Amino acid sequence: MEPDAAPVATAIRDRIAVITIDRPPVNALSTAVRAGLLDAVRRAAADRDVDALVIACAGRTFIAGADLAEFDRPPEPPHLPELTQAIEDCPKPVVAALFGTALGGGFEVALACHYRVATPGARIGLPEVKLGLIPGAGGTQRLPRLVGFERALAMIVGGDVVGAVDALAAGALDEIAGDDVVTAAAAAARRLATAAAPLRRSGALAAAAVDRTALERARRDAAKRQRGQHAPLVAIDALCAAATLPLAEGLIRERALFLELRRSEQAAALRYAFLAEREVAKLPGLGADAKPRAIHRAGVVGAGTMGAAIAMCFANAGLPVALLDVDAAGLARGLENIRRNYATSVARGSLAQAAMDERVGRIAATLDWDALREADVVVEAAFEDIDVKRQVFEALDAVARPGAVLATNTSYLDVATIAGFTTRPQDVVGMHFFSPANVMRLLEVVRTPRTAPAVLATAMRLGRALGKVAVPVMGSDGFVGNRMLMQRTRETFFLLEEGALPQDVDRALVEFGFAMGPFAVADLSGLDIGWANRKARAHRRLPGMRDCNLLDQVCERGRLGQKTGAGWYRYEAGDRTPRPDPEIEALIVAHSRATGIERRPIPDEEIVGRCVWSMVNEGARILEEGVVTRALDIDMVWLHGYGFPAWRGGPMYAADAAGLTAVHDAILRYRDRFGPDYWTPAPLLGELARTGGRFTRWARDAGATRGS
Ligand code: COA
Repeated sequence: MEPDAAPVATAIRDRIAVITIDRPPVNALSTAVRAGLLDAVRRAAADRDVDALVIACAGRTFIAGADLAEFDRPPEPPHLPELTQAIEDCPKPVVAALFGTALGGGFEVALACHYRVATPGARIGLPEVKLGLIPGAGGTQRLPRLVGFERALAMIVGGDVVGAVDALAAGALDEIAGDDVVTAAAAAARRLATAAAPLRRSGALAAAAVDRTALERARRDAAKRQRGQHAPLVAIDALCAAATLPLAEGLIRERALFLELRRSEQAAALRYAFLAEREVAKLPGLGADAKPRAIHRAGVVGAGTMGAAIAMCFANAGLPVALLDVDAAGLARGLENIRRNYATSVARGSLAQAAMDERVGRIAATLDWDALREADVVVEAAFEDIDVKRQVFEALDAVARPGAVLATNTSYLDVATIAGFTTRPQDVVGMHFFSPANVMRLLEVVRTPRTAPAVLATAMRLGRALGKVAVPVMGSDGFVGNRMLMQRTRETFFLLEEGALPQDVDRALVEFGFAMGPFAVADLSGLDIGWANRKARAHRRLPGMRDCNLLDQVCERGRLGQKTGAGWYRYEAGDRTPRPDPEIEALIVAHSRATGIERRPIPDEEIVGRCVWSMVNEGARILEEGVVTRALDIDMVWLHGYGFPAWRGGPMYAADAAGLTAVHDAILRYRDRFGPDYWTPAPLLGELARTGGRFTRWARDAGATRGS
């Protein structure tokens, strides 16, 4: 259907007006849908041939929410509250026929109806907080009247989506029907039209009493779990209004809070992140020959931590996978890890035993390369050593069927070199998973100049099928994420020798919104990884360039992080809490003295500026070199692989939000203080700062993209 065709139609059957919204892809409440629905409700209410109304949708889902595409413009009438009020006030019964995902404004429309019928598979919810908003059309006022204060708190402040069965038990739905939900809704509408009882209007129900304990707990939880975000706390305020004010006043209060958030920077950033997550999958500039190949069976080489977790990704997505290792003991360990991992989920109740058995059953452990003969894709997750990669890819070249996608999970080695070990470099691509691979959503899909477009498209689609956010990148040292991370890591060490302690850097970055501080993360993953990498790169440091060897000093003392009970912090037995360690402080202070650096107090603003703008400067280079084609590719890497706060949009979006002139000026100031080696502004940053441009609006000519 064309977007400007009338998106709402009414059919009258046996005196029931079935109003159907048809606006692909998800029946979002655009201005035209709101206007059409309001008009249809008013007409049906006035029509003498109509006894009751059903609100239904065509396509794949009931209304999935407000139309996010309209959020960058001022709201246009008719506004959603006017529509929901008209539905609730309708003198004839109005029944909602829910299926798919009835979310946000869509569920608010349903809440205003007098009865809600859903398919068993329907999912409902008010996830607005995830977009930096609160429900703005009665959701915070009507839901607590239906399900009680505490339940409404959980649903609105957490923003989680609920299945139909749970929603029925909670009182958010009235009936679960078979899959012909419109017929069931029409039958309910007829029953209500002939019943003597008055209509049950959610807004007219008694207000739910505030549960003070639940309220305090919700505030504490939100401050902790949704740290830095405004919307969850505002949602709690709106819910309090539902409990303390009459409906009409509560609705006014809710709307005012909603409009304030709608204009907020956090909401804009979260909206960007939502849309970017979908946009990233669309590959610009790929021709018609980029048709993805079918993937029915997979193979993984290497049963270490990474390989085992990648095999789990395939098994979780329903694909049979051969897991190969050349070492029998290593293979057994890998399988044991997989079983233990699944068993933890079963014990926690997040996975059924039968599902675990099915998944484990899809993983065939093998020592025999022949087992990879049938695979449509093989992911190599062997040791990070170019000679090992050569052996693996020569073996794969000999055994894999023609057309199989051969992927490497390398994080630093050159994918083009690895592709050169085969006679089919066009079929070779990087698939860089992040640890733990079965949990982390990021997948960098690394193409070389010789990767066939169809192979890139296959890897991207496979990534999505595995539940990942797949980001297309060109080969580059450290790809996108680790290349930018190297910049930040360097600055964190310099900050230590200039006067900060690990806990100062971590606190400042956690305060900024990162899930964890970099030193606590390093302790968690093991300092030996960064140490080995540092040693491998030692030859690349130019003489005279500033270098800080604190990491060597810490590792040389046997402090490799949590696994050795000490790293940048100390740990008590059985406790993962990082505790500041006087021994580390003494080591750092002695290091500053030995290198002649006078320690000074470093403000948080400087810590954040140096850590984030150093990454952004590198991001600008990554963009101008054509390693990625869009700033959103970089932002998706950081949101889904490195714990960058979604409500800041990602590093490139955050730079845009701060203003590129300000970022450029800050980098020039650092250059004047610390020298040009690490702080020369990227030309693209300089150009955008001068011209008032933005990274997220910048587009390179398709023809100029490296490797295209
Ligand atoms: N407004 C406008 N477009 C929307 C939208 C919305 N509220 N929700 C989804 N879309 C678009 C997506 O951008 C995507 O567009 P594309 O095909 O051009 O990329 C398309 O609908 C399909 O969405 P997608 O997320 O890829 O499909 P899905 O089946 O995995 O998930 C939803 C569907 C509805 C569950 C999911 O899109 C979602 O959670 N949407 C947001 C719901 C929400 O928060 N509503 C409250 C808004 S205040």
